[in-house]
Amino acid sequence: EGVDRRNVLLGLGGLYGAANLAPLATAAPIPAPDLKSCSRATITNAPYPSPAHAVDEEYIAKYNLATSRMRELDKDPKDPRGFKQQANVHCAYCNGAYKIDGKELQVHESWLFFPFHRWYLYFYERILGSLIDDPTFALPYWNWDNPKGMRLPPMFDVPGSSIYDARRNPHVRCGTIIDLGSYGNETKTTELQTMTNNLTHMYRQMITNAPCPLLFFGKPYRLGTAPKPGAGTIENIPHTPVHIWTGTVLGSKLENGDTSFGENMGNFYSAGLDPVFYCHHGNVDRMWNEWKQIGGKRRDLTDKDWLNSEFFFYDENRNPWRVRVRDCLDSKKMGYDYAPMPTPWRNYKP
Ligand code: C2O
Repeated sequence: EGVDRRNVLLGLGGLYGAANLAPLATAAPIPAPDLKSCSRATITNAPYPSPAHAVDEEYIAKYNLATSRMRELDKDPKDPRGFKQQANVHCAYCNGAYKIDGKELQVHESWLFFPFHRWYLYFYERILGSLIDDPTFALPYWNWDNPKGMRLPPMFDVPGSSIYDARRNPHVRCGTIIDLGSYGNETKTTELQTMTNNLTHMYRQMITNAPCPLLFFGKPYRLGTAPKPGAGTIENIPHTPVHIWTGTVLGSKLENGDTSFGENMGNFYSAGLDPVFYCHHGNVDRMWNEWKQIGGKRRDLTDKDWLNSEFFFYDENRNPWRVRVRDCLDSKKMGYDYAPMPTPWRNYKP
């Protein structure tokens, strides 16, 4: 309701460029949207996310079952655990549904990007797990940083299954290799060259261009800051290119005759409607852990306004929680850790 469909990922840099100049009016953390009866989250389960290309049939069946049960919950539009409701949570934090101090609350293109999506996945995963009575259920991660993961994970490409989405670029099918650096332009090159370029992009965004926290996480965003002060390295590339690559081509026709604004993955308002969104963000989240292991000054921010910023989510029992950035810095303390995977980009210094 009231969604601005023109808020296409592709156009944001240009549209909001001027906002970078806005001075900080106040120094304060971003508060959670004002909602009653929130409490703090406690951590219990221990999921162990695996790379999407490596999971087995049994896991895929479980994941599909959990997602189809989540889709069934859409019958009650008031159930916050429903598939569409969950997609709307993302939409609400990026299309101006929440207002803070008269301004749109926006979790993209600032230092809130990593912590918001971590908490979002955390609750999404708990809901899926509870729908199949498996508290250890873990979302897979789409490890596009490894040549084995540089295409749409095949489990998402089964028409009719609950983790399929018809609103994708037909190009992403048939194992096409993704170009992690592209905002929509296609370059003619061999698959091998694209994979090599991708590893170089990863090296740049994780190592060369992100030697210190603000460059990695994104620009400060406090109470009073204009939305979208500036994205961190990984949010820019490859996070946004993966969205654009997966969604329908801008300006093409959707199945209902509408003109495409990149749906579903290529637009904030609809991205959560493609189940692969959560798998994509699993890997974005994993990059946060990987980055801290590289060393040097690669640590979490210590600014209080970042640490004390808050979000609001519903859990698997429909209870609301108010959570803080400071409580999501260590994924192990949140109860999960990523199955190890080689990171060949570490050797791809351009
Ligand atoms: Cu909230 Cu990948 O976007």
